[in-house]
Amino acid sequence: MALQLNDLAPDFTQDSTEGPLNFYDWAGDSWVVLFSHPKDFTPVCTTELGAAAKLKPEFDRRGVKIIGLSVDASDSHAGWSRDIEETQGARLNFPLIADHDRKVSDLYGMIHPKASDTFTVRSVFVIDPARKVRLTLTYPASTGRNFDEILRVVDSIQLTDKHKVATPVNWKHGEDVIIVPSVSNEAAKALFPAGWDEKKPYLRYVKQPG
Ligand code: BEZ
Repeated sequence: MALQLNDLAPDFTQDSTEGPLNFYDWAGDSWVVLFSHPKDFTPVCTTELGAAAKLKPEFDRRGVKIIGLSVDASDSHAGWSRDIEETQGARLNFPLIADHDRKVSDLYGMIHPKASDTFTVRSVFVIDPARKVRLTLTYPASTGRNFDEILRVVDSIQLTDKHKVATPVNWKHGEDVIIVPSVSNEAAKALFPAGWDEKKPYLRYVKQPG
């Protein structure tokens, strides 16, 4: 069965652009964003990897390590990395798993046979320091992902882990959030002493805490 939210992210050891990599050892106590690419030397993936490399400082700031995967061998990845640097103006600054035998792709359900027997779809997994899967996304091979959206979700998950709030539609860091329904008004007074804007008893906006 496909990995579901709060499942334990499976461990693995596989080749990568940074040599053999054990996932749990590499992740340490960081958050992780793991994302798959259908194949090396494909145009959409090339743009995604360049964009991810440019955004790495933003992931670093949030305590998140990023790691890509493509179902080719590491010598192919090395040639592709040169093309990524040349065309996207950014050098790969995170590991790219060389999943030549599809070990990791199968473990994480990244191959969807009705889409392709051989290529992975564009999967994204956000994994927390306890190794729990906190977000899954699946895009078709022809659609490049929005890495700003992945950062936005990380911001939301990290905020809601710390405070009894949820984030509304299209929320971005710094905007008002919502007090979760399980918090009574009595409890909310202690948690949010500056008060909140109650549109309905179940819809209470509050300034972003923290
Ligand atoms: C790409 O990465 O460009 C791509 C891969 C498979 C199908 C379509 C596009």
